[in-house]
Amino acid sequence: MKSLFEPTTLAGLPLQNRIVMAPLTRSRADVMGVPQPCVRDYYSQRASAGLIISEGTQPSFAGQGYCRTPGMHTPDQMAAWKGVTDAVHARGAKMFMQFMHCGRIAHPLNRQIKDAPVAPSAVKPAGQMWTDQQQMQDFPTPHALATAALPGVINEFVVAARNAIEAGFDGVELHAANGYLLNQFLASNTNQRTDGYGTTLSGRIRFVVETFEAVASAIGASRTGIRVSPGHMFNDLVDANPLETHFSLLDALPTAKMAYVHVMLPDAFSPQLNNAGDPQALLPALRPYVKGALIAAGKLTAASAQAMLDSGLLQLAVFGRPFIANPDLVERMKTGATLATPREDLFYTAGPEGYSDYPALVS
Ligand SMILES: Cc1cc2nc3c(=O)[nH]c(=O)nc-3n(C[C@H](O)[C@H](O)[C@H](O)COP(=O)(O)O)c2cc1C
Repeated sequence: MKSLFEPTTLAGLPLQNRIVMAPLTRSRADVMGVPQPCVRDYYSQRASAGLIISEGTQPSFAGQGYCRTPGMHTPDQMAAWKGVTDAVHARGAKMFMQFMHCGRIAHPLNRQIKDAPVAPSAVKPAGQMWTDQQQMQDFPTPHALATAALPGVINEFVVAARNAIEAGFDGVELHAANGYLLNQFLASNTNQRTDGYGTTLSGRIRFVVETFEAVASAIGASRTGIRVSPGHMFNDLVDANPLETHFSLLDALPTAKMAYVHVMLPDAFSPQLNNAGDPQALLPALRPYVKGALIAAGKLTAASAQAMLDSGLLQLAVFGRPFIANPDLVERMKTGATLATPREDLFYTAGPEGYSDYPALVS
């Protein structure tokens, strides 16, 4: 039996247990993308996890889409993150940084640069996003990245990954899920390129594979993971055949050597699945394509997670919302204590309230 609560290793990295804190955007950075002091408190309070994956963090100002999300591309950001990783390591957890380049899911009011948001193709997302200045606003039409600009975007990920390692992170996760830039390259409705980086299956996975390879060659494949969400239609993303796309992607990645493949289960928020079949069948379908560690999040409980570890479907179990209101989630799951409910109205507000002020059961 591989207990949730027992130590393990992840691509050689020792973990104090098999419980992972999911990447959770909480918008507690300043406008320059520098995490505020409460960010260190928040992560260190939750560092009884085996592994913490940071909130989606932009690799460059160009990658920012939302207000007050952090970055990993300026000295001030790096210094603040170093304080976070030191505090997390002091409590025994390891920490990866998730890189979220938002691509077209961006509004100019939320960004520090004047350039239009970039995307594989100039396809405007349906819907609106929050801005601190003018509340909900329509998404603008993004600017399609020129072929000659692609190596520069990949280089932003590489530089940011090196910065993350310098700031004490144990590895990085590329966010290729939930409709952001890398996912926009994968999906057929957002990628209409005809330059070898789109249209065909091999074309649509190419930018993601090249980004992964560049980051892995800079910091090591064993320190590089990826997050995917086949069938999840968040952010107006609709792929004609998400399973086929992801099988092909996983075949092209060094899954035996890399840190992990992280799946956000498509029914985590909504039962509606785009062309990916039964949500329950997704992990078993992906499992044969992942030669190393497979980890997943999506409404897991201690019992369902343990069952997935026991069956060999997963190597680590990832928890998102339960970590928000339960800094001592590991202890609560171990003892069967009641879980507190998070305040959704404070998910993305500034400051410690509803963030670093949730009490542990015994503090
Ligand atoms: C407030 C909030 C912020 C989130 N931010 C991110 C993010 O930055 N990156 C990401 O990949 N997923 C993000 N997610 C999704 C979570 O990582 C997780 O996959 C999801 O909440 C399902 O797990 P759960 O049912 O345990 O919460 C977010 C979810 C919530 C509720």
